[in-house]
Amino acid sequence: MRSRPIIAANWKMNPAPAGFDTKDSPYRTQKDVTVVVFPTYLDLAACLEAGLLTGPQFGHAEASGAHTGDCSLAMAKALGCTYALCGHSDRRRDHGETDAFVAAQAQMALRLRLIPIVCTGETAEERASGKAQETVRRQVEAVPQGVTIIAYEPVWAISRGDPTKPAATVEEAQNMHHFIRSLLPASRKETAILYGGSMNGSNAAELLAQPDIDGGLVGGASLKPDEFAKIVAAARS
Ligand code: PGA
Repeated sequence: MRSRPIIAANWKMNPAPAGFDTKDSPYRTQKDVTVVVFPTYLDLAACLEAGLLTGPQFGHAEASGAHTGDCSLAMAKALGCTYALCGHSDRRRDHGETDAFVAAQAQMALRLRLIPIVCTGETAEERASGKAQETVRRQVEAVPQGVTIIAYEPVWAISRGDPTKPAATVEEAQNMHHFIRSLLPASRKETAILYGGSMNGSNAAELLAQPDIDGGLVGGASLKPDEFAKIVAAARS
């Protein structure tokens, strides 16, 4: 892990957890850990009012227009957001987001001076057929220049609400993080690579101790403030 870890909470399509806006909320960025939350669009304003670092889970690259149901990155920026999650596997699956679409979104985020976190990760089928690296390589090569945070989230390790789902092993995670770093040119070696997929209070310390794991992107466990606090504490130590 590099010197300043990043722990991001992806609340997905869930209400903000109780107490997220309190003074001692674990969702506040800390002296030695950057904590970022990705709520639904409905809760962005409340997170900003509470003083959290926040951004949308998706933002349309066009500023406005005929895209019923969508919100744009420009709107999130105007609200005061500082981050943007791009290309999460839920969105690739549910909305058919392609590498090119994700790249356009990340490029727009950069243009707006939002900090994009671009998600990568292979499916179970891709891993089973020996195509994990090929998939991740394709996704990483599509990440535009200027992106400083990439998340590796093996789709097969994402909890989807099942807290008993195992994360990738530390070896599996570290190996792929190392591979991702090897794909980046020398000028981008400082890219932060976050692990996502069933990270929780019990496995975070071991995962975060790996040399190429610079933080976490946390779904299910980020909805439980006590559990999330343990992950942030693990990042701090
Ligand atoms: P999980 O989700 O922590 O619930 O596995 C991670 C994610 O999908 O970002």
